[in-house]
Amino acid sequence: MAAVDLVAEFPQPAGATRWAEVMARFAAGLGSQGRRVVLVTSGGTKVPLEARPVRFLDNFSSGRRGATSAEAFLAAGYGVLFLYRARSAFPFAHRFPPQTWLSALRPSGRAPPGLLSLEAEEKSLPGFAAALRSYQEAEAAGTFLAVEFTTLADYLHLLQAAAQALNPLGSSAMFYLAAAVSDFYVPASEMPKHKIQSSGGPLQITMKMVPKMLSPLVKDWAPQAFIISFKLETDPAIVIDRARNALEIYRHQVVVANILDSRRSFVVIITKDSETELLLSEEEVEKGIEIEEKLVDDLQSRHTAFIRDKN
Ligand code: PMT
Repeated sequence: MAAVDLVAEFPQPAGATRWAEVMARFAAGLGSQGRRVVLVTSGGTKVPLEARPVRFLDNFSSGRRGATSAEAFLAAGYGVLFLYRARSAFPFAHRFPPQTWLSALRPSGRAPPGLLSLEAEEKSLPGFAAALRSYQEAEAAGTFLAVEFTTLADYLHLLQAAAQALNPLGSSAMFYLAAAVSDFYVPASEMPKHKIQSSGGPLQITMKMVPKMLSPLVKDWAPQAFIISFKLETDPAIVIDRARNALEIYRHQVVVANILDSRRSFVVIITKDSETELLLSEEEVEKGIEIEEKLVDDLQSRHTAFIRDKN
């Protein structure tokens, strides 16, 4: 089944048409300012096993790669369309889980009526004020738009709509596909209508393969764009070959290869004719530097060269 047919097979998520309009307006506005725009996909998709789902197949991805990368792209001047799994890591907020600020922030009691005033010991929330400022600057400048997905169906529809929104930007658009997207699903027509009963004994499920969305993305949805996919493996011995294989099949620009256990400090950027290792030293880790800062810096330069070559 072609990937595009698959998108039609999945139920359209509520609000998808409105989101398509919002994304198109966002991209067109930034495009008219001559700004580059990146779609960052982040977090894992969830696949229902029943028509009225009680159980799901889920994914380990925390969304931290996507959230940290979105911050780095904003700092580099990109407009960022952040397509992320609901309740996964969110840019500028993910370093501050509720339990840190719930106890550190106190109502100060000095606010005039109608205003809320909060205060905290600087050292109890290091970086909090700067993160708040950065987020609100991006919001005020209209350079950041967050769109949520939960299921595989949500993701597929919203990815297609996002690609259509960014396509008019040509080579100024970048796709940074860090989301971990399910490779398997149960078609709606084959799902049990009601909750699967444990009284039926051990469960056997046959799932269909989800075609890679990279194929229509590269060929039809945004053929002029700069496209980066990710390849995650648990076995270091196969990851580079798997990444190269993806590059050969889809013929997009970059694959970022990473291994589950070392993904926070080591990635390999693979193109048709290069292989670049990025590594964080222990000293850099201690200073709080994140691998995404190096990754985005490198990819931004490659994007500049890509735009130059296209013109
Ligand atoms: O979120 P974190 O905890 O920080 O972890 C980050 C990460 C490990 C999830 C991230 O760095 C990463 O590697 N993401 C991709 C995981 C992966 O290997 O996915 P995949 O093999 O299912 O897909 C490979 C590529 O094809 C991905 O870019 C994906 O967006 C794309 N894809 C996947 C499935 C599908 N049907 N269509 C696709 O286009």
